[in-house]
Amino acid sequence: MLRDDDLAVAAGRNADPAFLADVLTGLAGPRKAIPARWFYDHAGSQLFEEITRLPEYYPTRTETRLLETHCAEVGAVAGAGRAVVEFGSGSSTKTPRLLSSIAPSAYVPIDISGEFLRESAAGLAQAFPGLPVLPVEANFMSPVALPPEVAGLPKLGFFPGSTIGNLVPRTGVDLLRGMVATMGESAMLLIGMDRVKDVDVLERAYDDAAGVTARFNLNLLHRINRELGADVPADAFRHRAVWNDTWSRIEMHLEATHDLSFVIAGRRFAMHAGETIHTENSHKYSDRSARQLLAAGGWTPLREWIDPDGLFSLILAEAVPEPIAP
Ligand code: AVJ
Repeated sequence: MLRDDDLAVAAGRNADPAFLADVLTGLAGPRKAIPARWFYDHAGSQLFEEITRLPEYYPTRTETRLLETHCAEVGAVAGAGRAVVEFGSGSSTKTPRLLSSIAPSAYVPIDISGEFLRESAAGLAQAFPGLPVLPVEANFMSPVALPPEVAGLPKLGFFPGSTIGNLVPRTGVDLLRGMVATMGESAMLLIGMDRVKDVDVLERAYDDAAGVTARFNLNLLHRINRELGADVPADAFRHRAVWNDTWSRIEMHLEATHDLSFVIAGRRFAMHAGETIHTENSHKYSDRSARQLLAAGGWTPLREWIDPDGLFSLILAEAVPEPIAP
């Protein structure tokens, strides 16, 4: 049995200890799973950008269209002078549209990837001269301390892409409550939520004909090999995207095509043919389940915009004060 410091040596000096811990814990039990946030190394982020342009992947283009069409209304309801706080800003591609329609007092992008964050913050600062851009490098899953410059300002949270859908409901509720804690009780939130629809449409969106989503999923195994000194036989896994009706979500898995074993940081793992590693949940919402999730997280919808095909919704919500229960 290896001790923690031996593990770190076996994994290589530059291995991210949080990544190593999630992988080792996630593969230890009979139901294997790795948190979806580890998809996004450099290669994974590029593959995701490619996914957003696929004909089958409707969310990005549908949400972008909704933003273009309705950002003036968002501005009218939210009012001028808010500090826009973006959770998991990534490359901030949808942000300029929002910023140019709401007369913000500051922009605070929050992301764990410092590299991406500084690049996109610099770009936005150039595009919006005079707007204070105040990036925060942090994991938004825990409450974030906002820069002192925005302390007295009303906030508008921005959480596009249906990223909330990666979280099981109880974790999603924790995050939404954390956003209230981060932004204060006069805050508003503009959130993108993907909708329940035909199972074939959903499964195709997560298993495209060109195989980009398969490469995105399998990149996780290559990343484990690259960063954690592992020998996972990625060729012996296949990408699976399946609808789970009980949980109302698409699940992505990596399925072993035959019995196999591999070593990560000096530990051996075995898998049987057909056994999977669960790599992502992408929950899909109805009108009611979206409202319930928001309500449980401390938010009440003010306005909701849905595309004509009913694929995706953009919801503007406000923080609700703690209720006095009847
Ligand atoms: C960025 C998490 C919203 O769940 O649709 C795309 C990620 N995974 N194709 C999603 C993703 C597979 C995406 N989110």
